[in-house]
Amino acid sequence: MSLSRERILQEMGLSVWTLRARPATSAAGSADATAGNATDAAAPPADAGGPRDIAPADAGERAARIAALDWSALRADIAACRACELCGERRQTVPGVGDEQADWLFVGEGPGAEEDARGEPFVGQAGRLLDAMLAAIDLRRGEDVYIANAVKCRPPGNRTPEAAEIAACGPYLQRQIALLQPKLIVLLGRAAVHAVLGSEGSLSSLRGKPLACRSGERDIPVVVTYHPAYLLRNLPDKAKAWEDLCRARALMRTLKAATPA
Ligand code: URA
Repeated sequence: MSLSRERILQEMGLSVWTLRARPATSAAGSADATAGNATDAAAPPADAGGPRDIAPADAGERAARIAALDWSALRADIAACRACELCGERRQTVPGVGDEQADWLFVGEGPGAEEDARGEPFVGQAGRLLDAMLAAIDLRRGEDVYIANAVKCRPPGNRTPEAAEIAACGPYLQRQIALLQPKLIVLLGRAAVHAVLGSEGSLSSLRGKPLACRSGERDIPVVVTYHPAYLLRNLPDKAKAWEDLCRARALMRTLKAATPA
């Protein structure tokens, strides 16, 4: 981060949250077990079978191993992951999509049925609304935008991912953020907030607040808004999401002015 950018973040009074490796409490086994994929990046396990429990100490090793992967090894690792129950019912993993040098990162909750079938995030009805939200601030999927989810496998019946599942997938999202180094992260809904900020607070308590998360040596500004699927059911809140998007666009302009390409 350049000095001027750091100063801008300070002047904006951003509250910085640290992205840290949280121990992945097993969603697969006993309450005190930790789930994880302790395999070597070079030789991911075959994509078959159920989740594996690993010893708690291995969760840290797993996070450290994932933190060293490049984009293609990361995709392969996600495809082979058996760190939680979600692996049992997926058709395929949905790692993320877009420009791997994007300034914008949008984070959703987890794949639904259509995403599970196609292997790409936000391709269903909520995805169409997300595309419209992007267009409203002159963005397009894949052009300076990367889209990821808190969890990379479909929760059965499109339920909200559990805390242990978000934790098990956490190292993947953290690595995506570290590789991407986005200028700004937009969190769509509570699961994304939980995954990136570690907060289980209400969206309304976080919307409009100056927030940032720490990734490595950088503080990355964060904007919290409603999930598109929520907006489809709560049309009046679209106006609030529009406010959030306008705020995000203004913030990005300031950040780009501070760090010209
Ligand atoms: N909802 C999400 O949060 N992510 C998707 O990929 C699709 C729907």
